[in-house]
Amino acid sequence: MLSVVVLISGSGSNLKALLDATDNPLFGAKVVAVGSDNPADGLAHAEHYGIPTFVVSPSAFDSREKWAEVLLANINHFKPDLVVLAGFMRILPANFVSALSPNLINTHPSLLPAFPGGHAVRDALNAKASVTGVTIHVVDEGVDTGPHIAQASVPVLAEDSEYDLHERIKVVERELLVATVKDIATKKIHLPSLAK
Ligand code: GRF
Repeated sequence: MLSVVVLISGSGSNLKALLDATDNPLFGAKVVAVGSDNPADGLAHAEHYGIPTFVVSPSAFDSREKWAEVLLANINHFKPDLVVLAGFMRILPANFVSALSPNLINTHPSLLPAFPGGHAVRDALNAKASVTGVTIHVVDEGVDTGPHIAQASVPVLAEDSEYDLHERIKVVERELLVATVKDIATKKIHLPSLAK
């Protein structure tokens, strides 16, 4: 059974999709803890399933590296096989990434390498892209630059607001994230060979 720690920053709808899927013992992966950088609303999904949560706020530390060390210690306490960034809106320093990668994956709401960074949906709209989507990738030390694991596209509609487009992307994103974690659990996807 693949054990997974999920990190979130917000509403946690991707987390909820993973929790619902992994609640089935036949899925092959289980979420063992959920962490956040703030008291995020999405932590309630973990509490609903009786899964432990932790919050490590960067504001409590005088450097990103020290914050990341404590975040990493909280994660390592649960000895996960995989860490999933599911809407975790912080850039992680090299000490954190090198300790976990390639068993550290992120979901990003664009077809990378297009529109990396924290405003991917807005940037796709501003660029008048006709298609955007979602990318799940191994996290490396850059911002949304790691090797791609899976992608799915979503058309941009003429009347789309940022909210509407992001909500349509998230429907596809949740499915792709669940399918990707399943493929990692069943060894259809081998992260170390992707990272080379
Ligand atoms: C997702 O689209 C994720 O890719 C992005 O933020 C969103 C988080 O949504 N970085 P949720 O918190 O899982 O609902």
